[in-house]
Amino acid sequence: MDAIEAILTRTSIRKFTDQPVPDETIHTILRAGMSGPSCVNARDWSFIVVRDRGTLNKMADANGRPAEPLRGADFGVLVCGDLERAFPRAQEYWVVDGSIAAQNMILAAKALGVGSVWLGTWPQMNRVEALRALFNLPETQVPHSVIAFGYPAEHPAPRAPEWEEDRVHFEKW
Ligand SMILES: Cc1cc2nc3c(=O)[nH]c(=O)nc-3n(C[C@H](O)[C@H](O)[C@H](O)COP(=O)(O)O)c2cc1C
Repeated sequence: MDAIEAILTRTSIRKFTDQPVPDETIHTILRAGMSGPSCVNARDWSFIVVRDRGTLNKMADANGRPAEPLRGADFGVLVCGDLERAFPRAQEYWVVDGSIAAQNMILAAKALGVGSVWLGTWPQMNRVEALRALFNLPETQVPHSVIAFGYPAEHPAPRAPEWEEDRVHFEKW
């Protein structure tokens, strides 16, 4: 699958089969996460990969009701911003960098036949604090998002490629 096909046909997947995703595939997905651009190449993220069912359930509890897909996921990834590495003069870029890493992982997964759904964490601080407590994170690590991954047990039709004419401006507003 080429990059454009992966981007245009991706949909969130919230139901997963029991088939385990091979470690090598997970490794490739993580490499994709680490391959995006980051402000001044700060690479200001870290990832916690979770396969343990009990921990996945606790992550779902921490991240609120919309995080239910985690309970059936083969694995989950908590993306954290690493404030120690973030660009000191504009530290908030950690949020942008974490988002790029998350989306890169989602698209890589799609290309490899693995479904996923992004489960929003930051800036909902109750979720941030609950995940921080669950993983006993140091102060420098800020939970950014959780992604549930697994082979798809649902196949929603990809939405028609959306072209919204009024969103695009050429040369001037
Ligand atoms: C920042 C962010 C937070 C999201 N949080 C959730 C969530 O908590 N639970 C969920 O099921 N989907 C979540 N999603 C997925 C969106 O609901 C989904 O991307 C959107 O409805 C468009 O559908 P699609 O991904 O199938 O194109 C989130 C997506 C983003 C980008």
